[in-house]
Amino acid sequence: MTGSRRPRPTTGVPSVVIVGPGRAGGSLATSLVAAGVSIPALATRDGLRHPVADELGLATCTPGDALGLAEVVVLAVPDDAISGLARGLAGRLTRRTEPTGAADQPGRESRPLVAHLSGALGLAPLRPLAVAGLATAAWHVLQAFPSPDTGVRAGVVHAVTTEVPAARASLARLVAALDGRLLDLADADRARYHAAAVIAANGTAGVMVAASRLLEACGLSSSETLAALDPLVDSAREAVVRAGIPGGLTGPWVRGDRGTVERHRAALAGQADVLALYDALARVVGQVALPPSPESSPDA
Ligand SMILES: NC(=O)c1ccc[n+]([C@@H]2O[C@H](COP(=O)([O-])OP(=O)(O)OC[C@H]3O[C@@H](n4cnc5c(N)ncnc54)[C@H](OP(=O)(O)O)[C@@H]3O)[C@@H](O)[C@H]2O)c1
Repeated sequence: MTGSRRPRPTTGVPSVVIVGPGRAGGSLATSLVAAGVSIPALATRDGLRHPVADELGLATCTPGDALGLAEVVVLAVPDDAISGLARGLAGRLTRRTEPTGAADQPGRESRPLVAHLSGALGLAPLRPLAVAGLATAAWHVLQAFPSPDTGVRAGVVHAVTTEVPAARASLARLVAALDGRLLDLADADRARYHAAAVIAANGTAGVMVAASRLLEACGLSSSETLAALDPLVDSAREAVVRAGIPGGLTGPWVRGDRGTVERHRAALAGQADVLALYDALARVVGQVALPPSPESSPDA
């Protein structure tokens, strides 16, 4: 939760409408409100009231209306919905700017920057909006949002991809308002960057799933396994962050304790998926932690 974040002066910080008050959109809205950023509305599919908007005391609107309400419109919808939504909004803009059409975005002369929140996707899904003359950006907050009220933590990385300097400047002001760290990320690097995020976040969770299964087979209850793993995982993570790689790595893969590793592998023989995970992790860690052995050296 970000209720304790102190609002900073918001002069020059753009106003924001978020389309899709789900886990990421709701969290972003929660923290932007806490930071004192103007949010004229949250956009839902049909423009109807939404519990997240009610909780934050914000109005709601339709995605189409969002384009006329703020300087930055954030598409916080699932990755697969971004391009369809962008096409729909671009079509709406085109119709609005036809000579006989209604006034373009009443109340606002300039067109907003439109950004999506996907980590893996770049600017391509927003292309219809760029063709319609809008600045576009990909803005990924490097944090897990399990619920709409999670909030954005201070100090997290915000990976931004855009071809428009003014768009980068707008997002930089929002990132600063959230006490975040802006990372300029090339479009071509986004999938690699997001794979890293998924390995770190979902991979850690996946490793805990595998470890829980083994501990439960030793007779521990589900809650006992999680209570046992929590400080272990935390201390291992902390050691790597403090001492770096390889200095903060510990365990038999790093020490080269082959006998222990073979005992582990024998114990996992009946669980092919966990054994494959064990071997893959041992290889990745061993590559950075152990000097090449003489028999693996090409000169041997
Ligand atoms: N959750 C995370 O940890 C996290 C972290 C970083 C980045 N992201 C990114 O954030 C984005 C949203 O993910 P999420 O986890 O927040 O998803 P989510 O919890 O499923 O929320 C998606 C929101 O988008 C709305 N929506 C879906 N399709 C729509 C459409 N066609 N038009 C308008 N609204 C639509 C949904 O409304 P309904 O409820 O009506 O379906 C919901 O409010 C994704 O790009 C994701 O990669 C997520």
